[in-house]
Amino acid sequence: MLNLIIFGPPGAGKGTQSEKIIERYNLAHISTGDLLRAERNAGTELGNQANEFIKKGELVPDAVVIGMVRNFISSHSSAAGFIFDGFPRTVAQAGALDEMLHEFNAEVNVVLGLEVEEDELVKRLLLRGQTSGRADDQSEDTIRNRFREYQSKTLPLSAHYTSQGKYRSVQGIGELDVIFNALCTEIDVVKK
Ligand code: C5P
Ligand code: MG
Repeated sequence: MLNLIIFGPPGAGKGTQSEKIIERYNLAHISTGDLLRAERNAGTELGNQANEFIKKGELVPDAVVIGMVRNFISSHSSAAGFIFDGFPRTVAQAGALDEMLHEFNAEVNVVLGLEVEEDELVKRLLLRGQTSGRADDQSEDTIRNRFREYQSKTLPLSAHYTSQGKYRSVQGIGELDVIFNALCTEIDVVKK
């Protein structure tokens, strides 16, 4: 199994690059943000609860997100591997992911961190908000709150994975294909 985490702040291009990566490497794409929005749109209990956090730009509690990822992995257990997009968001989620993959005798092979500075991220998110229909992309206050959550709860994961020798930093500004090629170079190093 090849398991990748695509890491970086909101608007870094995780979803866009994931789409290209799954095509080349035949992985299952798990975007926890997309799964949460699908739950919300379906009006499930989980989705309604999650929406209270999403609309404020706050993180949904670990147990909720971890349960959702567990279900996704179980229902895609024949996948050649996964790309985790927007997960893990906290150190507790990273620990849970290790345990889940351990059940498949697998691990996180590499963490690809897209580096984009904040002013560029705000521009991208507001632009995406014009067409995405996502309320959390349309308010600069909510966007700033998402960055605060990222800084305090998610960014520590880069040190966590650096200490495991798994973190690779990739420039996230520029031509999509140039960024994609830089990501592929890192993936090919760990791909057996
Ligand atoms: O990953 P994405 O940017 O699509 O996430 C949108 C929102 O979904 C986040 O701002 C957060 O409220 C919620 N989310 C979460 N935990 C995750 C993924 C997404 O709380 N692991
Ligand atoms: Mg995304």
